Amino acid sequence: QARALTPPAISARKGKTPLVCLTAYTTPVARLVDPHCDVVLVGDSVGMVLHGLPSTLGVTLEMMIMHGQAVRRGLERALMVVDMPFGSYEESSEQAFRNAARVMAETGSAAVKLEGGEAMAETIRFLTGRGVPVMAHVGLTPQAVNAFGGYRVQGRGEDAERIRREALAVAEAGAFAVVLEKVPEPLARRITEEVAIPTIGIGASPACDGQILVVDDMLGLFGDFRPKFVKRYAELGNAASAAIAAYAREVREGRFPAAEHVFGDKPKTVSGGEA
Ligand code: KIV
Ligand code: NA
Repeated sequence: QARALTPPAISARKGKTPLVCLTAYTTPVARLVDPHCDVVLVGDSVGMVLHGLPSTLGVTLEMMIMHGQAVRRGLERALMVVDMPFGSYEESSEQAFRNAARVMAETGSAAVKLEGGEAMAETIRFLTGRGVPVMAHVGLTPQAVNAFGGYRVQGRGEDAERIRREALAVAEAGAFAVVLEKVPEPLARRITEEVAIPTIGIGASPACDGQILVVDDMLGLFGDFRPKFVKRYAELGNAASAAIAAYAREVREGRFPAAEHVFGDKPKTVSGGEA
């Protein structure tokens, strides 16, 4: 990614025009989002979105590397960030470095993302001091779903101070940006004012330095997941359903393939042949 945005370039956008971020898991979607995005995240949401897993806990390093390689082939401009999956970084700074180095070496990504605040500060400092730029992620951290007992908003009322401390800790530890997920709007606004690095909101605040959504969610690619914070910019799932139903009908009625979809005995033209 010779002409791609870098982690320091993203950090420098603090307080400036909003950073546009989306997830991608495949080459064709990476090609679609790249011209419009500053950051493309290969999120561990891939486990739920593309693999049918019930949470992100079952996502492996191998899955992240394979999807990272696919996305890398589709990017020219956006900064690619790859999520470290559950169990690949929490044990020790050394474990985190070993696995982050594998992700970077095998996918060509210039940065990784990991979940956690104060508990991960030492690891973030270890990684950033050794050539691994880290995007942090606080608030609702989906890998902690069992510890939270669900996917509820984090940082309401008295709990706000905890999330604020988490964000300050990861910024202090050297993260180049921090995702704030599903926290009250005034809290996200306040954290954005207080931390020195860009905040990337999802279910957070328009005051954040950037926004991120799961691309399949905002495209309306599957029907049953409709959280409040996802705006659907398209209903591609409905469009796909209608197309598949039309194909099934035409095959059953013998109307597909039609004359224009089949090959004759002889090429149609001398020069071009058949497409
Ligand atoms: O995995 C993911 O897609 C994420 C974003 C929603 C921030 O972590
Ligand atoms: Na994630």
